Amino acid sequence: MADKQYILALDQGTTSSRAMVIDAAGNVVALAQRPFEQHFPQPGWVEHCPMDIWSSQSGVLTEALAAADLEAHHIAAIGITNQRETTVLWDRETGEPVCNAIVWQDRRTASWCDALRERGLAPKIQEKTGLLPDAYFSASKLVWMLDHVEGARARAEAGKLAFGTVDSWLVWKLTQGETHITDVTNASRTMLFNIHTLEWDTELLELFNVPASLLPKVVSSSGECGRTRGLLDGIAIAGIAGDQQAALFGQMCTRAGMAKCTYGTGAFMLMNTGEKPVTSKSRLLTTIAWQIDGRTEYALEGSMLMAGAVVQWLRDELHLIRKSSEIEELAASVPTSDGVVIVPAFAGLGAPHWDQYARGTIVGLTRGTGRAHIARAALEGIVLQAADVLEAMEADAGMPLMQLRVDGGAAANNLLMQIQSDVLGIEVVRPKNAEATALGAAYLAGLAVGYWANTEAIAEQWQVDRIFKPEIDAEQRKRVRATWHRALDRAREWEQ
Ligand code: G3P
Repeated sequence: MADKQYILALDQGTTSSRAMVIDAAGNVVALAQRPFEQHFPQPGWVEHCPMDIWSSQSGVLTEALAAADLEAHHIAAIGITNQRETTVLWDRETGEPVCNAIVWQDRRTASWCDALRERGLAPKIQEKTGLLPDAYFSASKLVWMLDHVEGARARAEAGKLAFGTVDSWLVWKLTQGETHITDVTNASRTMLFNIHTLEWDTELLELFNVPASLLPKVVSSSGECGRTRGLLDGIAIAGIAGDQQAALFGQMCTRAGMAKCTYGTGAFMLMNTGEKPVTSKSRLLTTIAWQIDGRTEYALEGSMLMAGAVVQWLRDELHLIRKSSEIEELAASVPTSDGVVIVPAFAGLGAPHWDQYARGTIVGLTRGTGRAHIARAALEGIVLQAADVLEAMEADAGMPLMQLRVDGGAAANNLLMQIQSDVLGIEVVRPKNAEATALGAAYLAGLAVGYWANTEAIAEQWQVDRIFKPEIDAEQRKRVRATWHRALDRAREWEQ
């Protein structure tokens, strides 16, 4: 009898690399995780060393397989999911990165994006890419590298360099430089990709002065696109999606109108809009949800740039807690934040405010403010951003959202989820398996190789763990949000 087979999901996140072995029932059989170094060379700059990304990712891959006592032939396919937008540029011949990766949170290119807006290009960019000009996306990061790393532009023009988001970089490494690709969901975060024609947009490439020879080939989110070489030989890489799109799939939000929010480094709310890209009038992003069997589906996205990273900041910089999980008990030790509001605009503000120059702000401190109030205000700051996004999403969709599915590390925090439901005024539903991101990547890969027959078979695996219902009334909600908006005004345009 043939050995039992599994899917290997690689989840390359902003602060750690994870690998999971997943079985046919959607259970995580083995998990390995490794944090890697974050570089903050200047205020507002965030970098990763691409070799750290690779070594942590390949390390956990080996570890997860060893933990489950598996070898290459036990793996039916690999699915990759990744922090999006983060930009890597490397030499095609040597495979050497030309500089550190510029991370999605990095703000160094804010003024370049301002210039695009001043030239009146925002409507064209939104129409073609679904995105609003912002330092968040890959285009400005790539242009910065070409213009600031010595010799980079000349080497790029001579066809010697390759650009990629983290998925491209991992596939390149896994295939020992044989395959240079990205999937449609990651491409849709570069601000270089036309989400309607599903091609790199030549007009934007010219406008931004980006040589087309740098770009990876764009593939489907589900389908064999390469085979591993070396480390694990001959395994099909069969699914790729940016982490938020993977989570939308892992949460089985496969029908138009279904939405999820993932609380990772940032928090990202996505609503499936089906085969129709909905252009946002409320400053949300239009993005590709996935492409499966030639069918492309779209999503509206509200990206909040800081969520779990706020808790990490309380832990690592303020030393208010020792472990992230301690925040729940500390915050629950006080009934309210006693008027303290934290606006977590450490990396500017994302949707729907989009203020590259906003900065983190604490207001409402009094002589009686203690650690617990700060902890509670930090949690409230995370979920109040989501309330602004939900409002925008409902306006764009033209209908109220009844329910929000939640996942990611911080979704385990019951207090956070309760406050989330309170400020949204809708049900917040946490599934039994909160590893939606890795599951989504596994499902996309597994579908491609026939490990799962179809999406319906997968949908049966999604089960509710807990439903949080609003415990405050509309009047209280209005007051809390009004205070939040006053604090938000203080955080805006701080850097200018
Ligand atoms: O757009 C950035 C996002 O993909 C990062 O996700 O999970 O690393 O916060 P995460």
